[in-house]
Amino acid sequence: MIVAIDGPAASGKGTLAKRVAQHYGLPHLDTGLLYRAVGAARLGAGGDLDDVAAAVAVARTLDLAAFDEEALKAGPVGEGASRVAAIPEVRSALLKLQQDFARQPGGAVLDGRDIGTVIAPDAEVKIFVTATPEARAERRLRELLERGESVTLIEVLADIRRRDERDAGRGAAPLKRAPDAALLDNTHLDKEMSWLEALAIVERRRAEIGL
Ligand code: CDP
Repeated sequence: MIVAIDGPAASGKGTLAKRVAQHYGLPHLDTGLLYRAVGAARLGAGGDLDDVAAAVAVARTLDLAAFDEEALKAGPVGEGASRVAAIPEVRSALLKLQQDFARQPGGAVLDGRDIGTVIAPDAEVKIFVTATPEARAERRLRELLERGESVTLIEVLADIRRRDERDAGRGAAPLKRAPDAALLDNTHLDKEMSWLEALAIVERRRAEIGL
C-alpha cells in the first residue's frame, strides 16, 4: 500500500505520516527533507539559491543516510528549500529516488507537496492535510521555540504565507490537492483527533479497494 500525504507548511502532515507508517509497519519518507538538504547545502556554501546547475549537482548526490534531520528542520532552511524546490531540474533530479522509495515491495508512506499528484499518482491512499495559516503558524512557532530558536508569531506566519504562495504558484509540481485525495482540515483538531481522522480515511480506503 502506498500512502501519499500532502499539504502546506506546518499542516502536521509529517507527524501523521510517521504515525500511519508506524501503525501499518511501512517505511516513511519525509520528502521535504530532500529539498531542505539541497537548500541547506546551497546556503551553507554561501551560494546563490537560484544557481540551477549547483542545486542540481547537490540534488544528484544526496545521501539520505547522512541527513542531520535536526539541522534540516531549522526555520531558515524551510525558505531555502522552497526556493530550490521551485527549480524544475531540481525536482527532476529527485524524482527517481522518491519513486523508487514509493514502489518498494510492500509499499511506503511519503509526505510532501506533490506525492499524490506527481510522485505516486497511483497511490492507494491519498490525504491532503491542511489548516488555516494562523493555526499552522502557531504550531510551527511552538516547535521552533522548543528548538531554542528566537522567532515571533508574525515572522513565522509571514514565512508560511510566503512559502504557501511560492509552493502553490510554481509551474513545476505545484502544491495542490489531487482530485482523489481525501481532505483533512485539522484547524480545530488536536494531534490525537487528527490521527484518528487520518486512520479513518486510510481504513475507509482500504475497505473500498479490498486491502
Ligand atoms: O514542514 P514544512 O512544511 O515547513 O516543510 P517541508 O515539508 O520540510 O518542505 C520544505 C519545502 O520543500 C516546502 O516549502 C516546499 O517548497 C518543498 N517541498 C516540495 O516542493 N515538494 C515536496 N514533496 C516536499 C517539500
